[in-house]
Amino acid sequence: MLTFNYYGHACFQLDDGKYKLVFDPFLTGNPAATIKPEEIKADYILISHAHSDHIGDADAILDNNDAVTIGIPEVTDFGGEVVKTIGMNLGGTLNLPFGFVRMVPAFHSAGIAGGTPCGYVVGIGGKVIYFAGDTCLFGDMKLIGERDQIDYAILPIGGHYTMGPEDAAKAVEFLNAKNVIPVHYNTWDVIKQDPEKFKALVKNATVHIVKPGESLNLDA
Ligand code: NI
Ligand code: MN
Repeated sequence: MLTFNYYGHACFQLDDGKYKLVFDPFLTGNPAATIKPEEIKADYILISHAHSDHIGDADAILDNNDAVTIGIPEVTDFGGEVVKTIGMNLGGTLNLPFGFVRMVPAFHSAGIAGGTPCGYVVGIGGKVIYFAGDTCLFGDMKLIGERDQIDYAILPIGGHYTMGPEDAAKAVEFLNAKNVIPVHYNTWDVIKQDPEKFKALVKNATVHIVKPGESLNLDA
């Protein structure tokens, strides 16, 4: 079974029953978080960019896990507890024991010199998951959707720092994704959004609204 465990903001875990992938660890300072970093299990930590709301708890998770950190080299070299890293770059694909990780573009600021922001297309448990990271809507999302048949797109909808609900709904169309999970909203007032409004805007895909602390079975 492939499970999506949502920890709030852009932080979640994909668990295929054997391998646990944690994306954009941020719990400390996240008012919506329902779990502490020391409670999280990870075999891999994937980071989209070096803003603190995406990397803040990487060290804390690595304190308790012998995990491999994946990201742009300038980002994975943030030091601290990080010892096992796979630095990669846009367009690269890693073949890993659970499946594959492909790094794709995102349009955003870096947070650290040279730390180009990215998104990920991940093959795990027989599904293809696209995590957009922090980004605006961009036309090459069409290319991402052509390259891989996306089962689940995990998209920011908060606006202000990323695309908002209208542009995210357009992104779903560009990606030709079957299912969508909105993230990166309601953490703070500045990114307050009604996910039901987003759901109403999305055509031809199923929107799954998952609350922090909740899980979704991606096999269903
Ligand atoms: Ni950011
Ligand atoms: Mn962010």
